Amino acid sequence: MLAIIGGSGLTQLSSLEALRREVSRTPYGEPSGALTFGRLAGCEVVFLARHGYGHTIPPHRVNYRANIWALKAAGATSLVSVASVGGIRQDCVPGALVVPNQILDYTWGRAHTFFDGLDELVRHIDFTLPYDEEVRRRILHAVREADVEVIDGAVYATTQGPRLETAAEVDRFERDGADVVGMTGMPEAVLARELELPYAAINVVANYAAGRGASAQNVRFERVEQVLHEAMLRVRNVLAHLCRQ
Ligand code: HPA
Repeated sequence: MLAIIGGSGLTQLSSLEALRREVSRTPYGEPSGALTFGRLAGCEVVFLARHGYGHTIPPHRVNYRANIWALKAAGATSLVSVASVGGIRQDCVPGALVVPNQILDYTWGRAHTFFDGLDELVRHIDFTLPYDEEVRRRILHAVREADVEVIDGAVYATTQGPRLETAAEVDRFERDGADVVGMTGMPEAVLARELELPYAAINVVANYAAGRGASAQNVRFERVEQVLHEAMLRVRNVLAHLCRQ
C-alpha cells in the first residue's frame, strides 16, 4: 500500500475516497493526525497531513518518528512525501515540481533516529542515496503518464525553520550544492530508511529562496498560496497515476 505524507498546500487529498480514519499511538507518541485510509484512482492508499489537518504543527515540532512508525505499522510498503520548498537553482522557479535525489541536513535538536542505542547495538545505516531509487523511478514514470513537467534530480537542503533563511544562508546552501530548501525533508527521509520503508519525495517550489529572483529583498508569502494551489493540482494528478502502477 502506498502512503502519502502531504505538506503545506496538501493537507487533504480531495480526490481521495476516504474509507476510514484511524488514530494511532506509537512508542514515540502520536502522529500529526489520524491516518486516512481510502481509495485514490481505485487503489488503496493511506494519507497523513504532516502539519496536522488544521496545519498547526510547525516543522521543528512534527513528530517525524511517530509519523513514519504509524505508516509502517499500518502496512505502508512505500512512501511518497509531498513538500513545498524555496527554489535556489535557476530552473527551480515557483510552481516547478522537483523530484530530489540528494539531501543536506542543517536541522538540529530533532528526534532523528529510531536507533538511540538504548536497548540494542549501535547501528549505522547506509544513506548514500537518501531517496529510494525504485520509488523515484515510479514517480518519474507517473509524471510521464500524467504529462506533467518535473525536474529530475536536485539537492534538497533541510533547514530548521520555522523562520525563512537569510540571503547569506541561502548563498551558503548553494555553495554546499543545494538546489532547493525546505524544512521537513530530514529526519523524515532517514527515519523511513531506518524502518526500511522505501521513500521518495515530490517537492513543489513555492517561492524563490531568500535573496533569489523575486525574493531578492524579502520572501513574500502572499502569492505562495496561489502557486501551491495550482501546483498541487498537478501533484494530485501524478499521485493518481502513481498509485495505479
Ligand atoms: N525556505 C525554507 N522552506 C520553505 C521555503 C523557503 O524559502 N519555501 C517553502 N518552504
